Formats: sequence, structure tokens, C-alpha cells
Amino acid sequence: MKMILLGPPGCGKGTQAKNLVDTYKIPQISTGDILREALKKGTPLGVEAKGYMDQGLLVPDNLVVKIIEERLQQEDCKRGFILDGFPRTVAQAEALDATLSRLELNLEHTLSIEVDEEELIKRLTGRRICRKCGESYHIAFNPPRQEDICNSCQGELYQRDDDLEGTIRNRLKVYQDQTAPLISFYKNKNILHPIAGLGSIEEITERINAAINP
Ligand code: AP5
Repeated sequence: MKMILLGPPGCGKGTQAKNLVDTYKIPQISTGDILREALKKGTPLGVEAKGYMDQGLLVPDNLVVKIIEERLQQEDCKRGFILDGFPRTVAQAEALDATLSRLELNLEHTLSIEVDEEELIKRLTGRRICRKCGESYHIAFNPPRQEDICNSCQGELYQRDDDLEGTIRNRLKVYQDQTAPLISFYKNKNILHPIAGLGSIEEITERINAAINP
């Protein structure tokens, strides 16, 4: 199963990707996670990406395209993959097409998760993430059993720097301007599945499974 999870910041791409990994036993490839890891380690990629990420802007296409090109060549992607947060511009989508055709891989599904802006802001301002294992929570919609402590590994939960309301609004604008055009891009390829993103996490998972296994 080779698929893209598309949708605005906070629509639930990361949350749903984790469920898809469990079901289909294929890797989640999140450019946001890869960039945050580079930032944490202070690599040249992380240093370059930081300024863009802190402002809610997209990191330049050439940097993220290179990450994806390298990652898709790894053995575990042969059976399938879930792209989470990539592509985000038409130029990235075209570069992805070129890479997949070189690797003789076919993209099967693009799941576009649709959530209104008011709900996205609630989801992002309330999101907390485990410093140790990366598990994602929400203070109201998906709270940990113990406040600020991860259920799985007891790590400390923190709020992402770009989950402050001002930065969230920039990210939403960037999504509308630069990423939303990908909806027509994949519709024209006949692989787009619009997914209504309001409802419980389990309900959205069911909708995704129904779309990819009709
Ligand atoms: P990235 O990390 O990709 O962030 P994003 O796309 O903004 O998406 P998020 O991770 O914020 O949200 P999500 O859709 O995964 O939602 P989640 O499941 O966590 O990118 C960050 C930055 O990196 C970018 O701004 C950019 O600078 C850079 N970058 C990354 N990729 C790039 C690229 N390709 N090109 C250029 N730059 C790039 O859910 C959110 C919250 O809602 C959680 O708390 C969750 O528990 C809760 N939740 C989930 N589902 C539900 C539900 N059904 N009901 C209620 N709550 C829910």
C-alpha cells in the first residue's frame, strides 16, 4: 500500500498514520518528524530548517525532496509507505512522481483529511507530545492518564514550538496557499479520497480503511 496523507496542520495525519502503520505494517515517513529530529541533533539540515519551522513556513523544496528521495530507496519502502506531510507543494509532488517512476513504484492513494479551521486551532493548541517516544496526545480530546506524562513510556509531555496560536495561523495560511492545490493535482490522477476529518480518531480510521479497501 503506497499512500499520501494530505491535509492541513492538525487534521490528524500523524495520528492516523500510526494506525495505518499497525494495520498495514508499512513505514510512516513524516518530513516534520525527520526535520524535528535533525533540529534536536543540531545537524546542518536541522539548523537550516529551524528558521522556517519556527515561523510556520515551509522548508525549501530541495531540502525535503532530498530527504524523501533517500528514504524511499530503503528496503522497507518496497512493500509500501505512508507519506505524512509530504508533498506540500506542486514542485514536491512533481519531484515525488519522478522519484517513484525511477524506483518503479506506483502511488495508489492520496487521503485528504478535511477539518475546519476552528477545530484545527483547538486540536493544535491542545496537542502535547512525549519528549521520549514521540506519542501525541490532546489535553481534552485524547488526554494521557496522568497529566503531562506519557502513557506508554512515562516520558514528559511538551508543546511544540510551532503550536502557539500565532504560528498556527501562519501554518494554516501556508497550507491554503501552497499545499491545498495538491487536492486538484491528485484528483486529476484519480487517486484522491476526501475523508471527513471530524469525529473520533477511531471513526476517521474506519473512513480511511473503507476508502482504501472499498
Ligand atoms: P509537520 O510536523 O508535518 O506538521 P503539520 O503538517 O503542520 O501537521 P501536524 O503534525 O501539526 O498535524 P497532524 O495533521 O499530523 O495532526 P496530529 O495527528 O498530530 O510539519 C511541521 C513543519 O515542518 C512545517 O510547518 C514546515 O516548516 C516543515 N515541513 C514538514 N514537512 C515539510 C515539507 N514537505 N515541505 C516543507 N516544509 C515541511 O493531530 C493534532 C492533534 O489533534 C493531536 O493532539 C491529536 O491527538 C488530536 N487529534 C487527532 N485526531 C483527532 C480527532 N479525530 N478528534 C480530536 N482530536 C484529534
